[in-house]
This record gives sequence, C-alpha cells and structure tokens, in this order.
Amino acid sequence: MTASYHRASQPPSADYTIPQDWEDYTAQEHNTWNILYRRLMEVLPKRADTAFLEGLKALDLNKGGIPHFGRLSDELEKLTGWRVVAVPGLVPDEVFFDHLANRRFPAGNFIRQPDQLNYIQEPDVFHDVFGHVPMLANPVFADYMEAYGKGGLRALGTGCLKNLAALYWYTVEFGLINSSEGMRIYGAGIVSSPAESVFSIDAPDPNRIAYDTERLMRTDYRIDDFQQTYFVIDSYEDLLEKTLNTDFGPLYERLSGGFDYTPETILETDKVFTQGTQAYANKGGRF
Ligand code: PHE
Ligand code: FE
Repeated sequence: MTASYHRASQPPSADYTIPQDWEDYTAQEHNTWNILYRRLMEVLPKRADTAFLEGLKALDLNKGGIPHFGRLSDELEKLTGWRVVAVPGLVPDEVFFDHLANRRFPAGNFIRQPDQLNYIQEPDVFHDVFGHVPMLANPVFADYMEAYGKGGLRALGTGCLKNLAALYWYTVEFGLINSSEGMRIYGAGIVSSPAESVFSIDAPDPNRIAYDTERLMRTDYRIDDFQQTYFVIDSYEDLLEKTLNTDFGPLYERLSGGFDYTPETILETDKVFTQGTQAYANKGGRF
C-alpha cells in the first residue's frame, strides 16, 4: 500500500507520537489536500465563523500540500502556545486528554484516499489540521481545548466519559455559533466536510438549538452521518465560562453515564433556533 501504511504500522511511543515523515508524502497525497482545500474555500467564506477563517489565514495553511507539522507548530506556538504532534490515528482517552491538557494537538499523519474525499471515519491529516488547527489559533478557544483535556483527565473513572465525549462532539467537532454575522460554523468535523458545511447552515433538516451543558451531555450523537441536531453557542467566552469555570463534579453525580435523549430530540425547555424537518435523516441519510 502507500507510505501511510508504513508510517501507521510503527509501534507507538508512550504518548503515541510518531514522526510525521513529511518527506514521504507523495505528489498525489499533497494533491488530495489541495483538492479538499479548494472545495472548502468555495463554501466556507460565507458559512465558517471569522475565528476559523482568521486562524486559517494567520497560519497560512494554503501554501499548497500537506503542512509540515514542525513549521506549522512554530507559527501556532507563537500565537497560543499550542503545537501539533503526529499520531498514527485514534489514541486512547487518557493519552488524548494528556496531550490536550499540555497544549499538544494529536493529528493523524496519513491522508485519505482520493475516493474518500467526502467521507472518512478515521480522522486524517486533512480533518485534523485543516479542521482543528485554525481554531487553536484563537486564544479563547485554545484555552477551551486545554481545559477540555484537563477536564477529561479529571473525569477518568467517573463513568461519565461518554457524556464528556458528547461535549467534545457537539462543540469542537460539530459546533455552530450565533455570531454577529448570523449562524456560523466553528466545528472541525463540519468545516472539513464540503457537504456538511452547506447542510449545517443552509438545510431545513437539522435542529439548531442553544447550547446548554447538561442537556447536551445527555444527548446521543451520530458518528455515521450528518448530525440531526447542532448546538449553538453565543460566544467562545460564554462556552469557556460554562465549562472551564463550572465544576462538573455535581453534574457527573446526576448523570447516569449513558444518554437520555436521542439525537433528534427537542425538549420544551430548549431554546430553538431551527426545529428541523429531519427529512434527510428520515429518508435514510448517507449524503
Ligand atoms: N470544569 C470542568 C470540570 O469540572 C472541566 C472541563 C472544562 C470540561 C472544559 C470540559 C471543558 O471537570
Ligand atoms: Fe476531530
């Protein structure tokens, strides 16, 4: 297979980091990055939040081809103290939390195959770097990500990791923000998908409801298709206030460890921006 197979098969170090081996990417692999970048630039300027777009610009992720993690990290570190480290793919929870708690973002070093441009289950370098790294250039969001890592380490053994994973999912991966320019995307899982970038903002199908920490942490989510519900924050400062500055201890006591609400649920207590038709999910979804 490709060079990425060789890289991914190396035994992980204790923190699971591996060399990026930037020199080993083929012209085709760099080209995959460029194609995805161009596609997203057709849809994101009017849909992604300015924090994301500014981060993208500040880090100059459009030099052509897959970024070199060392050089990218030197730029990012000057802005917010974060660095990007290469890992073979998904890493165990405690390893992941420890990286975030120390302002290291673990990124897959392999890139998807040309026939997986619209969908890939395991996060690759395009999702991890294009999707996540621009937001790490935002000082408030950078603090949120570190706090999440620390919160994760604290939550190990509480039985509530699933609930904490939902928080990551509905903010870091699939978050929307009610910005001064209207509804905008900041979630990495959305901005790295051309199709979901349009769907999350333009489509009548999904629910869009106001962020509420406990309500969100009780809600199951989709990992195989577009989300049925997006949670909308007011600002990154507000998100930080409701997470970093809130003790989750009492909340973990109340949670069962499982989910109480299905992904499409709307409650009477929700502040609803859009009550989705759910037509897309009801006819079976899959893009
Ligand atoms: N304040 C949370 C706690 O008490 C930690 C946390 C911060 C969790 C930010 C998620 C995001 O555990
Ligand atoms: Fe991700």
